Parts: sequence; C-alpha cells; structure tokens
Amino acid sequence: MDKFVIRGGNPLLGTIRVSGSKNSALPCMAAAILTEDEVVLENVPQVRDIETERKLLVSMGAEVELGYGRAQHRTTISCRVLSDPTAKYEIVKTMRASALVLGPLVARAGIARVSMPGGCAIGARPIDLHIKGLETMGAQISYEHGYIEARAERLKGAHILFDKITVTGTEDLLMAAALAEGETVMENCAREPEVTDLAALLTAMGAKIEGAGTSTIRVKGVEKLHGAKHRINPDRIEAGTYLVAGAITGGDLCVSHCNPTHLGALIGKLQECGVRVEILGKDQIRVRGDGSLKGADISTEEYPGFPTDMQAQYMALATQAEGASLVKENIFENRFMHVQELVRMGANIRVDGRTATVRGRTPLSAAAVMCSDLRASASLVLAALVADGESILDRVYNIDRGYERIEEKLRGVGAQIRRMGNVFGGD
Ligand code: EPZ
Repeated sequence: MDKFVIRGGNPLLGTIRVSGSKNSALPCMAAAILTEDEVVLENVPQVRDIETERKLLVSMGAEVELGYGRAQHRTTISCRVLSDPTAKYEIVKTMRASALVLGPLVARAGIARVSMPGGCAIGARPIDLHIKGLETMGAQISYEHGYIEARAERLKGAHILFDKITVTGTEDLLMAAALAEGETVMENCAREPEVTDLAALLTAMGAKIEGAGTSTIRVKGVEKLHGAKHRINPDRIEAGTYLVAGAITGGDLCVSHCNPTHLGALIGKLQECGVRVEILGKDQIRVRGDGSLKGADISTEEYPGFPTDMQAQYMALATQAEGASLVKENIFENRFMHVQELVRMGANIRVDGRTATVRGRTPLSAAAVMCSDLRASASLVLAALVADGESILDRVYNIDRGYERIEEKLRGVGAQIRRMGNVFGGD
C-alpha cells in the first residue's frame, strides 16, 4: 500500500495546474447511459474514482475508452448495449457515487439494480431522496439482498421537492427526468457547479432543461437523447486545496486552469485570515501566504456557501493562524476524521459535536499518520508540508481517489514529497 513521505518547510513557489472535476466527471459519465450514441468527455481527471466508474459502466455492458496524456484526458463512452443494468456491490462499496447510475438506468433501460451504498467514513450517506424522487416519477421500488431494484415502463414527469439539498440526488433525478414523459419540476435542488456542468452536457445531448444552478430546475422530457462532446469543468476543490497549500507554506503560488467564480466563499475566507489572494484573469488565481495568519470561523453550507469538501483543508490552515477558529460542519455527521491526526502532529483542536475549535498558532511536528476519507487525507498533506521534519502518510489510495498526481504537482512547485511502496510491510 503506497505511502507519501513529506518533509515540511518549503514555501510553494510557481504554477500548479488544476485537473478536471471528479465530481463533474462522475455524473457526466453516468449520463452516457441515457443514449445509444457515443459520448466524449474531455478534461477528465486521472483519479481512482474515474477508473471505478469506468469499471462500473463496463460491467453493465458499456464500452469505455479512457485516454490520458496526449489524448487530453478524454473518455469515450458507448452504452449502445446495456447487457446488465446492475451496479454490483463489489464496485459500489468502493464508491458510493455509483448511485448516480440509478436514475439513468431506469430512464434508459426501464430497470436498475444498484447495491445499496454502505456508509462511508464521513457518514451514513443514504440515498433515500434519490429513491423517493424516482417513486414520485412512477418507478416501482423493491429491496432484496442489499440491492435496490427500480422499474418503470417509462418514468413520468413529476413535481419533486427535495427534503434536503442533495448534490447527487439532484443529478440522479435530473438525468432521469431528461427522458421522462412530460415535464418535471424539481425544487430545493443543489446549486453546485457540478449540477450545472451535467446540465450543460445533457442539453448538448438534446435535453430540455431550465434553471440548472438555481434551486428550481424544470425539465421537459424527450423521447431520445443523442451523443455529444463535452469538456468537464475544472475541479474547484482541488484548486481550493492548492490555494490553501500556497497559504499554509507561506508561498507565492499561481493556481492555473481553474475557475475563480466557483471559489468565492473560500477566497473570501482566506482573505479574512490575512492571505493575499489575487484573481489573474478567467482561469488563474495567485495566492501569497507571506503575512501572519489570523483565525476566522467557518460554517459549511451548500453552494455557494463554504464547501464541506474544503473544511478539513481549512482546518489545517487554521492551526497556523493566531487565535481561535470555530469550524462548524453542517453537511455530514462525521467529517472530523482528520482532527486526531492533526492533534498528533501538535495541533490544538477540541471537538464538541459538529463544531471543532482550533487554537493557533501551534507549530506542527512531523509524524506517521493515517489517511482516511479523501479530504481528511488532503488536510494531512497540507499539515505535513508545514510540519517540522519528515511525515509518513499511509493509505494514500484515499488521496488518489480525487487528486490527480498530487505528489508530482506539489513537487513541481518545490514541495519535498515522494511516493513510496509499502516500506514497512503489513497492510
Ligand atoms: C456530493 O456527495 C459530493 N460527491 C461530495 O464530495 C460532497 O461532499 C457532497 O456532495 C456535499 O457537497 C460527489 O459529487 C460524487 P449530498 P453527495 O447528497 O451527493 C444527505 C468528495 O470529497 N442525504 O449532497 O453524496 C447526506 O447524508 C465528496 O469529493 C440524505 O439524507 O452528498 C448529507 O448529509 C465527499 N439523503 C447531505 O444530504 C439522500 O438521499 C448532503 O449530501 C442524499 C443525501
């Protein structure tokens, strides 16, 4: 099992390039199920979750070609044949976003069998709102052997009001509604840029969608959708992670190929902490951490609020800021997996329910730490970049799920980081 060895202390200097968004590419790949034609996606990140989705689609009978390098990170997907509309447990257990095939499969094939996603490190992660929406559209739902089965001759347009804002729930039902009979109105939708990106692809495929990116989306179902070519948005969380990396190391870093308009809440918070952030044109942001940092509170909210996917990374920065920072996690019930590891490195953090109080500034000392969920792992990378000495991060496959070649990108701007195979044996 790979590990990272990181020696802290180097300010990050230069330009770091952001890849395509994992959380856009996953629903967009699932959207290919909706048509017999070929769908070509560009700027797809080379991360484990994309490979998992490729395996999932192939297991259902699709042809998926993933080309990286000169092929400009392109995937070509053909779901002409869907021989087995099943998302199997072996795959779903490694990636709960597999639930994104539920809506498209029922809409295209009239049947879907998806393994109920187990919980995951950050919480129960139910999909009850996905299921409730499909039932409202006329799907017959049954549960057997840990699988949910959804059937419908043809889904019917409906009025759907989400009890809670759900990103993949909005995406799942948006895809289902695209081929439903009649109009669907969805209220209390997620407004994340990933929803808007998916809607852009579906529209290019012939779907009739209004209001993507707002809390009310209207879809006029069509009989068929055709193939399309679509470029995936930049990954706003990867970009945010590198902005924090530039700040925490006291560097001067340009984050390129990103979309600054997707990062308003984070940029505002970094500036409140005393970080110098400058937007250079439509796809570059310059961050300088040369001043002293002061603590600032955050409360995670749905987009455009402060993203839960940046909470762990922000907490690492808060350990280096003077004073207290209150970090409130409102979206997931167990998203403080990074806290104990940061404390082992010398951070002063107290958790009380969904609020963590970080008291800085505390020097961090290098340690052997364990990666857990994707963003908690990113937080440990950031802490190790500023810790005194050499840290060893175990189970970095968690990072590989959502960060493309992170050690190469960071080394390219001066970080002392290298990947090692299993150095001590064991798991
Ligand atoms: C998406 O997960 C992202 N994943 C997550 O990113 C992100 O943290 C999350 O949205 C919130 O922004 C992908 O897009 C693949 P939700 P998702 O449904 O859709 C509850 C990462 O690090 N809920 O918006 O699964 C749920 O338990 C990942 O890249 C229900 O109760 O999140 C949570 O408390 C981690 N019932 C809240 O809603 C449902 O049917 C928001 O979850 C669905 C969700």
